[in-house]
Amino acid sequence: MSRRTIRLRLDGAAAADRSYAIVIGRGVIDALGSSCGGAAARRAVVVADAAVAPTHAARAVASLTGAGIETTLLVVPAGEASKSATHATRLWSDFARLAVDRHTHVVAVGGGVVGDLTGFVAATFARGLPLWQVPTTLVAQVDSAIGGKTGINLEAGKNLVGAFWQPRGVFADIDTLATLPDREFTSGLAEVLKYGVILDAEFFAWLEEHAAAVRRREPAALEHIVERSAALKAHVVERDEHETTGLRAILNYGHTFAHAFETAAGYGTLLHGEAVAIGMAAAARLAAALGRVEPDFVARQDSLLRALGLPVTAAHLSWTPPAADDLLAIMGRDKKTLNGQLRFVLPTRIGHVELVDGIDAALVRRVLES
Ligand SMILES: NC(=O)c1ccc[n+]([C@@H]2O[C@H](COP(=O)([O-])OP(=O)(O)OC[C@H]3O[C@@H](n4cnc5c(N)ncnc54)[C@H](O)[C@@H]3O)[C@@H](O)[C@H]2O)c1
Ligand SMILES: [Zn+2]
Repeated sequence: MSRRTIRLRLDGAAAADRSYAIVIGRGVIDALGSSCGGAAARRAVVVADAAVAPTHAARAVASLTGAGIETTLLVVPAGEASKSATHATRLWSDFARLAVDRHTHVVAVGGGVVGDLTGFVAATFARGLPLWQVPTTLVAQVDSAIGGKTGINLEAGKNLVGAFWQPRGVFADIDTLATLPDREFTSGLAEVLKYGVILDAEFFAWLEEHAAAVRRREPAALEHIVERSAALKAHVVERDEHETTGLRAILNYGHTFAHAFETAAGYGTLLHGEAVAIGMAAAARLAAALGRVEPDFVARQDSLLRALGLPVTAAHLSWTPPAADDLLAIMGRDKKTLNGQLRFVLPTRIGHVELVDGIDAALVRRVLES
């Protein structure tokens, strides 16, 4: 079993140290039981979705049981629809039925859906239970399992109800990525590439060199991309845990466009990472139109997107986007706009971005139409 550990360091008023380890590698799920046991867990509730319950979640249960921890597995349906008040209520009821108390540790095994839902239930039940994240999608390993954002969707919008609730630890088992459907895996690579653009030119260059190995899911390549991405996300979260200084906002590179594409396409048409890929392509063009990047920036980012199997335009997804004005109207309602002005995270070079306010809507329209 090879493994690498990243320490996410947090401070705060609470006396207890809230820092935690992100353990990355092959077979690290098997170390879950000893870590929870070391943290004095007597009982555990594992929450998983139906796609991973018989495989990866069963392995987590075996590790916990093997460490002498009495463990119950709860299963939710696979898919975004489980990030709902209905499923949160069901889990709260199950926790009550199982007489879950503060000595019970909650373990989320699955993608971002399971992690966000389970994290929210752990944050709220009995005013907060110890939580462990065991991410099994690339998106979850490089993004959603790290940083403590949890939540559910309402009909009125995604992630509208939630809480910051940091896990006690994260176990990103690279082996779980082997069973991930190709479209899900590739979509997750958009967030990986994003870290290179916003924070790490060297990592971007590494991806350019190793794109083929990444797409073949060679374990060494997977370990590297998850480790680098997790370290960069941890770096941001450590400096802006609650998104108050603006630093955490740089993680939204490509996302103002992406959210508009996702909303316009309707739930289930585009995967989030696909929308982020064409969102980053659009943001790069916007930065070029503003003279904020050298012209070759756009071409370099486009070619890495393509090399990783990601789309650069909506046409690559055989999706016809609506008129630019409709997309602009959606962006105007996005919670990331400030006082009706358009705000974007824009690159200045590979490895550096800035938050830019007051962008002219006419320019954004031109980018969308080009
Ligand atoms: N909390 C955060 O900071 C944060 C960040 C990014 C995204 N998110 C949220 O994450 C969610 C998306 O996460 P996701 O992309 O992981 O989606 P997901 O959880 O729906 O997983 C994608 C699909 O893969 C299946 N699956 C999971 N692991 C598998 C495996 N190892 N093998 C085979 N199939 C597997 C799932 O059942 C599902 O069908 C969204 O709700 C988004 O809002 C949260
Ligand atoms: Zn994202």
